[in-house]
This record gives sequence, structure tokens and C-alpha cells, in this order.
Amino acid sequence: MPQAPEPEKLDVVALVDTAERELAAAATEQALREVHARYGGREGAIKRAVQAAINAAPKDRKREVGQVGNAALQRIEGAFEARLRSLGDEARTRDLARTVDVTLPGRSHRPGHLHPITHARRAIERIFAQLGFTLATGPQVETDFHNFEALAMPPDHPARDMQDTFYLANSDLLLRTHTSPVQIRTMLAQRPPVRVICPGTVYRRDDDPTHSPMFHQVEGLLVDEQVTFADLKGVLLHFARAFFGPATTVRLRPSFFPFTEPSAEFDLSCVFCAGAGCRTCKNTGWIEVGGAGMVDPEVFRHVDYDSERYTGFAFGFGIDRMAMLKYRISDIRLLYEGDHRLLEQFP
Ligand code: DAH
Repeated sequence: MPQAPEPEKLDVVALVDTAERELAAAATEQALREVHARYGGREGAIKRAVQAAINAAPKDRKREVGQVGNAALQRIEGAFEARLRSLGDEARTRDLARTVDVTLPGRSHRPGHLHPITHARRAIERIFAQLGFTLATGPQVETDFHNFEALAMPPDHPARDMQDTFYLANSDLLLRTHTSPVQIRTMLAQRPPVRVICPGTVYRRDDDPTHSPMFHQVEGLLVDEQVTFADLKGVLLHFARAFFGPATTVRLRPSFFPFTEPSAEFDLSCVFCAGAGCRTCKNTGWIEVGGAGMVDPEVFRHVDYDSERYTGFAFGFGIDRMAMLKYRISDIRLLYEGDHRLLEQFP
């Protein structure tokens, strides 16, 4: 901030001239207030100059000098007020001069989009809801008991090798490697009959670039009296047709899972070539989508169900894969890159 002139060196009239010039030239309200503070008011340069002149004047002239000084201070106040008003007028004039075309259409917000995996999950939930399946969920951080042991995979069971597990340090907790532990939680919480589907996020340590360490599965479980393998196949066939269209067929191939007996691999007729053979199905006409089987009595033992009275089936498959097949997405990585060009295609 420039220093105010030394009051004693200048006479009051010259000081008032300078102050008025500076007030009139101030371009902003803040600059104006600074100039005013420097010259005007009880602390300002003019007041100090007037006081000095009074002190220096002979006794009989002090009163006259004081009156001249007061008049000078009032002029400064007047000049300040006037400039303040004119700055306000200038701002208003500028605002009014700004042209606004009120006929232009407004800017619309672009709506968000559901992820294709969410679309697929909801479609799956809807189809099973129509068959009377209710929704069940479980935690993503699981215990060894729910994820492995109660599913007939005791410590050192070779099947644990198939599922590269993320363990939480210094505990028996882990990130669930499949949605099957929700079967256990459901059966521990309720008596038969049971009819649930359990969609959810699962985790596996995969270093293959075409696999994601986090992906989605849906588990199905039905337990009642006299449930058969034919019921399992009927439910899977109904689902496949509702999800992919009436021409779809299902194939169950003998396989092994520790928690089902018998166990099966669940294949769909290729949704791209309808079984004729193409790149996606590697010319086999079939696409592998999940596992299924009849609940092993060993699992029932862990949840205290009577395996003489009850039987049940279970199945599990990947939601990501279902979404890719349904929406013809060729690379799983596209699902996890958050690219708007992909997401915007799924309103
Ligand atoms: N949990 C198995 C996996 O993630 C899939 C599975 C197979 C689930 C057979 C089942 C089943 O319910 O009966 O590889």
C-alpha cells in the first residue's frame, strides 16, 4: 500500500486535491475503501494534517483553521460516497449489457447407467423369483468354516487348490471364493423347505490377465422332501430359456464338487451359433457356465439337516459370464474398465 504523504510537509488543500483524485480513480470498491482509509476519517492523513496546522497556528486563528479542516474532511466523505455510488451503477450497467438468450434450450443432465452386470443380476433374480426362489446374501469376508469346511472341504482337501484364496492375515477369515457359503448360512438359519438364490461378489487370486480377481456368482439352493436331479435340470433349463431365449438347451456333464453328489458341469447350447460351432464355443456348440449337483449328505450333517428325510440340489455360475454372453461383450476386462462408451449402451 503506498504511504500517505507526510502531513506536515503538505498543506491541507494539496492533500485534499490528491485524495479526491485518487478516490475518483479507484476502479474497484476495495481500492476505493483503501484510499478512503488512508486519507479520510479520524485516523487518516487529512485529519493528522489538520491537527498539525491547528497546533502550528497562532491562538487567535486556531478556530478558523479547524473549520477549514472540517470542511476538507466532509469533502472527502462526499467524494467517497459519490464514487461508491458510481461504482455500483457501473456494475449494474455491465450486468444489464450482458446479453442472455432466454430462448436457448437448457443444458440437460445425462442420466446414469446401470452396469451390464447389474442388468444381468437383476434379470437372473427376476427369473428365479418367478419360480419362488427368495434372495439370500452373506458376507464377502467369510470364515474358513462357511467357505470350505461345511462344504465338505476340510483343511488339506485338494479341492481347496482350485480356488486360490485371499486370506486375511492372522485370522481364519478370507475373502469368499464362491457364493456357496451362503448355502451354509441359509441352512444354519432356517429349516427345510429352502428355496434361495444368492448373488454376490467373490474373490480369487488369479494372475491370468483374462480373469478378474473380483467377479460375481449366483448360487441356487433348493431343499425339500423328494427333490430329484430332474428338478435341478428342469430349473436350469427354465432359467436358460427365460434368460437367453426359448431355443436354448442345457447339458449336464458328470463332474466332481466336494459339496454335491452326484455333481455336474452345467453347459448351455452356444448362444452365438445355436450349436453349429463358432469361435466362442470353440466349435463344440456348448458353453460351460457353472457347476451343479445334489447336496451332499456331508453338507447336511454340518447344518444339522436330516439327510434321510430331505434331499436338495444346488448350482452356481458366473454372472459376469452370463452378462457377456447375453450382451455379446467379447472381453471380460471391458466389464471392469468403467469406460462410458460401454456403459452408455446399457440404459
Ligand atoms: N462353488 C462352485 C465354484 O465356485 C460352483 C458350484 C458347483 C456351486 C456346484 C454349486 C454346485 O452350488 O452345486 O466353482
